[in-house]
Amino acid sequence: MQTDFLVIGSGIAGLTYSLKVAKQFPDKKVLVITKTQADETNTKYAQGGIAGVWDEAKDSFDKHIEDTLIAGDGLCNEKIVEIVVKEGPERIREIINYGASFDKDEKGDYALGREGGHSEFRILHHKDVTGKEMERALLDEVSRTPNIEIINHCFVVDIITQHHLGFLVTKSTLDITCYGVYVLNLHSNKIEKILSNITLLATGGCGQAYRTTTNPRIATGDGIAMVYRAKGRIENMEFIQFHPTALYEPGVSPSFLITEAVRGDGGILRNKNGEAFMEKYDARKDLAPRDIVARAIDNEMKKTGTEHVYLDCRHMDREKFIHHFPNIYEKCLSIGIDAMQQFIPVAPAAHYSCGGVKTDEHARTSIQNLYACGECASTGLHGANRLASNSLLEAMVFGHRAYLDVVEHYHELAGTFAVKEIPDWNAKGTSEPREMILITQSLKELQQIMSDYVGIVRTDVRLARAMKRLDLLFTETEELYRNTKVSPQLCELRNLISVGYLIVKAAEFRKESRGLHFNTDHPQKSELLQNIIL
Ligand code: FAD
Ligand code: SIN
Repeated sequence: MQTDFLVIGSGIAGLTYSLKVAKQFPDKKVLVITKTQADETNTKYAQGGIAGVWDEAKDSFDKHIEDTLIAGDGLCNEKIVEIVVKEGPERIREIINYGASFDKDEKGDYALGREGGHSEFRILHHKDVTGKEMERALLDEVSRTPNIEIINHCFVVDIITQHHLGFLVTKSTLDITCYGVYVLNLHSNKIEKILSNITLLATGGCGQAYRTTTNPRIATGDGIAMVYRAKGRIENMEFIQFHPTALYEPGVSPSFLITEAVRGDGGILRNKNGEAFMEKYDARKDLAPRDIVARAIDNEMKKTGTEHVYLDCRHMDREKFIHHFPNIYEKCLSIGIDAMQQFIPVAPAAHYSCGGVKTDEHARTSIQNLYACGECASTGLHGANRLASNSLLEAMVFGHRAYLDVVEHYHELAGTFAVKEIPDWNAKGTSEPREMILITQSLKELQQIMSDYVGIVRTDVRLARAMKRLDLLFTETEELYRNTKVSPQLCELRNLISVGYLIVKAAEFRKESRGLHFNTDHPQKSELLQNIIL
């Protein structure tokens, strides 16, 4: 298969870009591939909303910029922050024009929410299911755009570069170029190649590297691992954001999120003894940035010997709560908790990857003809910690910027693939997997290692131990990969091991505590502001 525009991923990043490119080039096909169903994305599960300066009487770009920089703890790229904050509202207007509906107040103005680290009310939302509404609006617009084709159940195994033509490619090769991808077509169970002039990676995050995560099963860091294997640049992987308040439900995965907007509307965190503890940790109390709240909860859990704390909403207005958070209210009721009368048990869960594939202000990666945006990318917006509700915004801003760059450089980028030279996938010598347990058990081990040794609080010894264990998992899994026919499960395991390695390696390099990375052996901030690029 051959296409001008290939997009890997059907979340907010991939679809924002696809719609723009398809409208600009109506006689060309935009091919979007996705590993399960088109709407099964992190995007669909976004709850709280999308941040943007909307009420200019009270809010301003400067305030949103300032809040983002404070959360990012010294490592944000200020130029990128300014770009995202200033271009964001226009992108929000576009998705409203596609048909996304955000809640309004009784006066007909957008009802703006507030979350941790935001100094103003600036979060547009659709009840507590904002992502579902945005994904719906994007997919509806795609269905009205005839030159976009979405192929479901098509798993990208690797991006094709000169390496596949037999050339030696190393980290110092300057012109590594993407010619397309090898995919496992889950309908035919065959590996096929898709050649493309321009590829956008929009594969989302990697929460599945951890035992407890808010991320759905698809979030296995595939794009990040593929780029790393192709010798592209990966940045700031140590900054994994743990959401403070996932519903505590042992044995249930992924964890159901209790949006930060609940605290924005007045929810209070309490420990086992019913004590509101956040004031001991930060003047902003329950609305401090996420790294601070998650660490405070972790500390309270350790001190009181419990596996969770509580979110108290009993004092909140019942009608307003049910109106704003119907999904959360129902979910709690389904497990026997009436949030208006009882505490909700909550615990932190891996939620968001602030680092990823390093990109520039046009969403270009270090690999030619390959763009990246959304959660798989590291644009410089988040620095050491993402401000709540900034990621949907970032995905739309950089989806748009990638599109602008593609339009500008289309004629240089077009026609680079050398169809005949690129070999078919070689499955010689491999056999059907005989024991799935080899994959499933290794996945459990990986998630256990990452949660126990590379979680909210880290130490040098824990990181060293994690690296040793990952090394063994890597060796075993590579052997399995060489000898068995590939399956999504095996590829995802392989990718998660790479992502785990990148997180640990970056964490080992960072000899300080900053933002989401807290190492008790290096509790201070270093004077040197640096991004870790691997
Ligand atoms: P995704 O939406 O995750 O899409 C990834 C796509 O890539 C999928 O289509 C997947 O199938 C495809 N893919 C991945 N690997 C492969 C492969 N190997 N082959 C083929 N296809 C592949 N952010 C906010 O700003 N506000 C919020 O309120 C908010 N709430 C959140 C709540 C939850 C529970 C979660 C999990 C996240 C939340 N986030 C929120 C974060 C935000 O939702 C994500 O960062 C964002 O949606 C990521 O979008 P994306 O397009 O980059 O990736
Ligand atoms: C939430 O709704 O609390 C999640 C918001 C986010 O991750 O940005």
